[in-house]
Amino acid sequence: MVLYRNFGKPFFFKMDPEKAHHLVVGGLDKSATVPGGSAALRLMYGVPETADLAVELFGQHFPTPVGLAAGLDKNAEAVAGFSSIGFGFMEVGTVTPKGQPGNDSPRLFRLLSDEALINRMGFNNEGAEAMAERLKALKKRRIPVAVNIGRNKATANEAAHEDYRQCIRALYPYGDFFVVNISSPNTPGLRNLQHGNELSFLLAQVKEEMELQRKKSGISKSLLVKIAPDISDTELEDMVHTLTEAGMDGIIATNTTLNREGLKSLQAGEAGGLSGKPLRDRSTDIIRSIYRQTGGKMPIIGSGGIFTSQDAYDKIRAGASLVEIYTALIYEGPEVNRKIHAGLRQLLRRDGFRNISEAVGADHH
Ligand SMILES: Cc1cc2nc3c(=O)[nH]c(=O)nc-3n(C[C@H](O)[C@H](O)[C@H](O)COP(=O)(O)O)c2cc1C
Repeated sequence: MVLYRNFGKPFFFKMDPEKAHHLVVGGLDKSATVPGGSAALRLMYGVPETADLAVELFGQHFPTPVGLAAGLDKNAEAVAGFSSIGFGFMEVGTVTPKGQPGNDSPRLFRLLSDEALINRMGFNNEGAEAMAERLKALKKRRIPVAVNIGRNKATANEAAHEDYRQCIRALYPYGDFFVVNISSPNTPGLRNLQHGNELSFLLAQVKEEMELQRKKSGISKSLLVKIAPDISDTELEDMVHTLTEAGMDGIIATNTTLNREGLKSLQAGEAGGLSGKPLRDRSTDIIRSIYRQTGGKMPIIGSGGIFTSQDAYDKIRAGASLVEIYTALIYEGPEVNRKIHAGLRQLLRRDGFRNISEAVGADHH
């Protein structure tokens, strides 16, 4: 923690949040691509692979269960870098078919006293073709890379399925698995796709495209859906039922929240999605409900407010097979991965589990 706390954080936290963000992604990209750069990053921040933390899921080998959540590497610019700082997998995107600028700045806010962020980025990205080129040029993959897909702002919900299909067509060969993002609060109307006929129609469409691509390539890839935390119990139940019926391979729970309860920071009134500590327990509750409803048969990736090994472990015991972080990386720096992984191994040993998979859903047994 020393390096980032004492040097990186004071420097980055004085800057405009979005500029700091670009520096981090750009810096990681450069560090990893100079000769010996990835090895140096692994030496500084890597997490040794151990049998107790490795996970086999979605036809992939995850060296560790903690991944990088979507939205930090929107264009797959720093895959080599993020793969070298201890993550067990990462999501790139959200990517849309066409590039788009996203919302006007400022659009990213730090809520220091709440250990949270509010963002209203609005899917700023360079588009599916640009991402495909970058992923194609990657020489070596160390961890599974999931492609998180969305619709362009200018596309109406009625035509959204075409956007998702187009992303799958452009990126199928390059993603190890895919995530349908219908839960960002920053693309007007997007969250309506989470319900009723709109949801079942969209899922049937993306599933059909995945199937076409599977036949074409001879390679089968998993398809997950990322959901919002701002839903009622009945809505969640209906959604999980529809996702199961549609043959989805997993659920990512959850995206950022619109809820602002209990915040202390002045910026709490900013529009956008809230991430970090205040989201933690809500997201764990949703994981617990999904696991209960599906009897543990639907794999879950937990996301929301994980800062410590206990936070990650709580989500795993509630039913998550893997977890991901974003806000903690901004607050604590890349050292956070070693801390979380070391703590997780201790918690597993304490509770008598030989492998992380034995702890998944343990609260229910
Ligand atoms: C600045 C920012 C941008 C994000 N962009 C995306 C995105 O493009 N797609 C997505 O699915 N989630 C996005 N997220 C949500 C994160 O992937 C994650 O689900 C959420 O922040 C909760 O995890 P955390 O509390 O560890 O940050 C974004 C989050 C932040 C803070």
